[in-house]
Amino acid sequence: METRTIFFIGKPGCGKGDQTKLLSVKTGWKILSSGDGFRMIADEDTPVGRKVKSEINAGLLAPHWFATYLFLKNLFSLSENESIIFDGFSRKLPEAELAVESLTWLDRVFSVIHLKVSDEEIKHRLALRKDIEGRVDDNAVDERLKEYREYTEPVIEMFRSKGMLIEIDGERTRDVIAEDINLALGI
Ligand code: AP5
Ligand code: MG
Repeated sequence: METRTIFFIGKPGCGKGDQTKLLSVKTGWKILSSGDGFRMIADEDTPVGRKVKSEINAGLLAPHWFATYLFLKNLFSLSENESIIFDGFSRKLPEAELAVESLTWLDRVFSVIHLKVSDEEIKHRLALRKDIEGRVDDNAVDERLKEYREYTEPVIEMFRSKGMLIEIDGERTRDVIAEDINLALGI
């Protein structure tokens, strides 16, 4: 199978985590989650860790250069034929532009999957998860949606205008969404 690079983007709670896992189980491709990366740093008892933790809990996106640092670190560690699924990278324009530039430089063809879900459904899902998982940022859903609108929507528009976006209706059952994604990726 050819080497693939897949991005999942969309609103907080749109299903990036669930769908990247399903895709990984099917293909064996590794997942790199920006949220997991930031949460690991937030657990560190350092000035940077404490700053990251306060921003995550407030529902704010990290600076684009920090996300880019995590992205490049992960990208540089990939071997030549290693396919990869990026969950949550490319949320601000400079980060997305650098991702496109670096992948193009490396001759890695990539696909961007946008999981489309309404605000109402997002609020419903994250309210349910708050009670089960207790993720602190699930108390800051409005703030996360505001950050999404300000920073990530222009990224989605950029990918769309370049014809690079695969749009998937994320408001159906997990399995039906996964089938659609597999079809769109030709796997
Ligand atoms: P991150 O961890 O990526 O959080 P997020 O984008 O807010 O997304 P979630 O993980 O909450 O949701 P998801 O889309 O993965 O959906 P899930 O599958 O869990 O980022 C956390 C923070 O890190 C950011 O706020 C920011 O501070 C920082 N950060 C990360 N990346 C960054 C970047 N690039 N730049 C700057 N800062 C960055 O599903 C959600 C819920 O819905 C679950 O309970 C799930 O079971 C359920 N669900 C999923 N699919 C379905 C379905 N089809 N039907 C019904 N329920 C479903
Ligand atoms: Mg997630």
